[in-house]
Amino acid sequence: MAFNDGDLENLPEAGESARMSGTELWPFWTRVYAQGDPLPDLRCTVERPQYAFDEGEELPQEYRLLLMKMLRHEGERAGNKSFLGLMGTCLELAEAQAPTAEARVLKSEYVAEELKHAIMFHRLALGLDESFALQDVPYAHYAFHLPKETWADDAFFHFFIDLNGAFHARDWRDSSYIPLRKISRTVERDEFGHSEMGYYFYVRPLGFAQHAEIHQLGTEGGGKRGDSTKVQGLRR
Ligand SMILES: [Fe+2]
Ligand SMILES: [Fe+2]
Repeated sequence: MAFNDGDLENLPEAGESARMSGTELWPFWTRVYAQGDPLPDLRCTVERPQYAFDEGEELPQEYRLLLMKMLRHEGERAGNKSFLGLMGTCLELAEAQAPTAEARVLKSEYVAEELKHAIMFHRLALGLDESFALQDVPYAHYAFHLPKETWADDAFFHFFIDLNGAFHARDWRDSSYIPLRKISRTVERDEFGHSEMGYYFYVRPLGFAQHAEIHQLGTEGGGKRGDSTKVQGLRR
């Protein structure tokens, strides 16, 4: 089954809720995406064979192994005990370090959204292999083991690592595995919002007005995350 751009725009967003958040800042991605796609254009510009595999279809063995390897390291699956442990530490940190009640609510919205991803990826993993869906994968990357002694440490973690997640999901817009392509837009947008949350927590002492102003500079002239030297300069 092939998708074109129009189809992708109309895909249902799994796990979405129409409920508004308890804080007007959440979700953070709405203001950024309202100004256009914030990520660099990573479209493939060379000719290459096009493949599309859907759930339940026979997959080439090497393809299946590489797909599962990638998903194993992504980690946000309901069947991954280590992922749920990581979410627990997020709540503990918020309980001990959140500077305001609002910050704690925002962090709980973040955890809720990561759990939404865990459900989405759990469904996807089940469609591939039941035993894979239940696999526990302790986080190997050092970024997950950096000390988080302050709220700022945690904010920095979200700013960088969730942005990394947004880039992963951005890449899946063109995935040959259709279930991954279907969830890519939602995950990308959410992860971008988590990075914005981290940034907001980090610059909070400046006040939200400056935060918005910096964003405006970053998006002037089509500036995007990853290529705006103006924003990078301000953020140093
Ligand atoms: Fe996530
Ligand atoms: Fe995230």
